[in-house]
Amino acid sequence: SRKFIVGGNWKANGSPDSVKKLVKDLNDGDITAKDVEVVCAPPFVFLSEVQGSLRKDFAVAAQNLWDKDPGAWTGEIPAQMLADMGIKWVVLGHSERRENCGETSQIVAEKTKFAVDNGFSTLTCIGEKLDAREGGKTFEVLDEQLKPLADVLSEEDWEKVVLAYEPVWAIGTGKVATPEQAEETHAYIRKWLTDNVSEKVSDSVRIQYGGSVNDKNAADLGQQPNIDGFLVGGASLKGVTYGGAVRRA
Ligand code: 13P
Repeated sequence: SRKFIVGGNWKANGSPDSVKKLVKDLNDGDITAKDVEVVCAPPFVFLSEVQGSLRKDFAVAAQNLWDKDPGAWTGEIPAQMLADMGIKWVVLGHSERRENCGETSQIVAEKTKFAVDNGFSTLTCIGEKLDAREGGKTFEVLDEQLKPLADVLSEEDWEKVVLAYEPVWAIGTGKVATPEQAEETHAYIRKWLTDNVSEKVSDSVRIQYGGSVNDKNAADLGQQPNIDGFLVGGASLKGVTYGGAVRRA
């Protein structure tokens, strides 16, 4: 059975004060991480602090990593450096990085492989934009995003990968996918994994939904058989709302 997993992607938000407050809210909240795995992804500059202060039953993720050995890479954060500080999770291929930082599906697949090879678990993001959804091309886009992952990951590698399905049109828009829309797409992704990787991987890989998740819509989404968690943006910056999403999961 697939353990429910909720990620909080803080994106490029936060100040020293607001991060302290958010961590305190999360630590003091009545969230039990017994049945739900919780992962928080703060910006790099707060990783160390959050890693040191966040309750230990929650994991901490980086929002990206550099898939090369440490060295002359000005401005980058190599996987090894994150591993040395005890970070065990990384968000990869978020649509904001695909769109603004030139991360192709090939690059995202290579980063995912490098991360897994360096001991990380990944929240690897996929998802179509509005024009693809409206043009009936959602599954084509997903095929294109999934294929390079299937090409580089072994069956064993997949044990460390969580897929986050985030339709770009639902991110930060308040326009959440309906439970039926999300379930249809998640079921498609799982079938793709059966057909292109293996039955075993398809059965075990967790697929999160992301895009305008909050404590009000989380319960219905979370009931869908192929939705195994959430990747939460805006609501994860409000400890209480995020807790609501976790509780309703
Ligand atoms: P919102 O929850 O703000 O829509 O963001 C979703 C997201 O991009 C999480 O990675």
